[in-house]
Amino acid sequence: MRDKLEALKASAMELISSAADERALEDLRVRFLGRKGELTAVLKDMGRLSAEERPVIGQIANDARESISGAVKEAERRLAAAAVEHRLKAEKIDVTLPGKTVTAGHRHPMTVVLDEVVEMFIGMGFSVAEGPEVETTYYCFDALNTGEHHPARDRQDTFYLSDDVILRTQTSSVQIRTMERQKPPIRIISPGRTYRKDEIDATHSPVFHQIEGLVVDKGVTFADLKGTLEALIKGIYGENAAVRFRPHHFPYTEPSAEVDLQCFKCGGSGCPLCKGQGWIELLGSGMVHPKVLAICGIDPEVYTGFAFGVGIERLCLGRFSIPDMRLLFENDMRFLRQFG
Ligand code: DAH
Repeated sequence: MRDKLEALKASAMELISSAADERALEDLRVRFLGRKGELTAVLKDMGRLSAEERPVIGQIANDARESISGAVKEAERRLAAAAVEHRLKAEKIDVTLPGKTVTAGHRHPMTVVLDEVVEMFIGMGFSVAEGPEVETTYYCFDALNTGEHHPARDRQDTFYLSDDVILRTQTSSVQIRTMERQKPPIRIISPGRTYRKDEIDATHSPVFHQIEGLVVDKGVTFADLKGTLEALIKGIYGENAAVRFRPHHFPYTEPSAEVDLQCFKCGGSGCPLCKGQGWIELLGSGMVHPKVLAICGIDPEVYTGFAFGVGIERLCLGRFSIPDMRLLFENDMRFLRQFG
């Protein structure tokens, strides 16, 4: 029995010391020390020993149990250390490698200007209204007092989808949609995309953007129009921006005015950008025509209003002294990065 115990101990010690992982080690522990393990099996024969032999063999058996559990503990430590070592190697970081650049995007210059205008008008108590880009001729022309034979409706200038459905040529259509829904006091701006059959050049594009403005209330006057537009223009171009109001005609306003900005490229002396004029046409505006109010069910004897429409591209070119509109949609990163 003594030999059996010694042999058992020897083979256990050897197997345990070379266990490859925690699972193998646990299997070995159960195999040798478990309640149904090999050591217990040997000890079952203790009963057959003489009274003198029993304590001696008992001592050897205890010895073997302690040695084997010691070896298991030792192997546990060895395997844990190896696991840490393995992780350290696997997760090694070379802090001398160059870092990865994180490139943060930024707003497009058109969005910068749009955000500025929206913020300015929200500050003056306006809210933002929206309307469809595919629009009927009723909202884009008829309800804006623009008769069937008006040149603005020409098929040469407007994208027609059918006889009475078009891509809107102006955001003024949102005036009508707003006044149909909402009664005075009304104070809205409506930014959005607009379409005209224009050839692309430094100041034209068949797809462009406008911001429409509309105020209707009791006692609104041309002075309110002037004050609001001056606030807009000075907000965008600074206190010293030179502007002029020029009489004009729009079917949906009476009286009407166009507002020009002194050319930011030549300072007013005349250059190709301003076509030698010294001024750049910025926006159209006027007092809402009584017929338009009436069409929308608002009594023109009680209410007056003003409206304006401004091209966001124009605003943007002036704001950043950009000489060519095409730069805004060509997506040349060398151009766009300047606004980061
Ligand atoms: N809709 C005009 C255009 O596209 C701009 C405009 C002029 C808008 C006068 C208005 C306005 O609301 O009152 O050129």
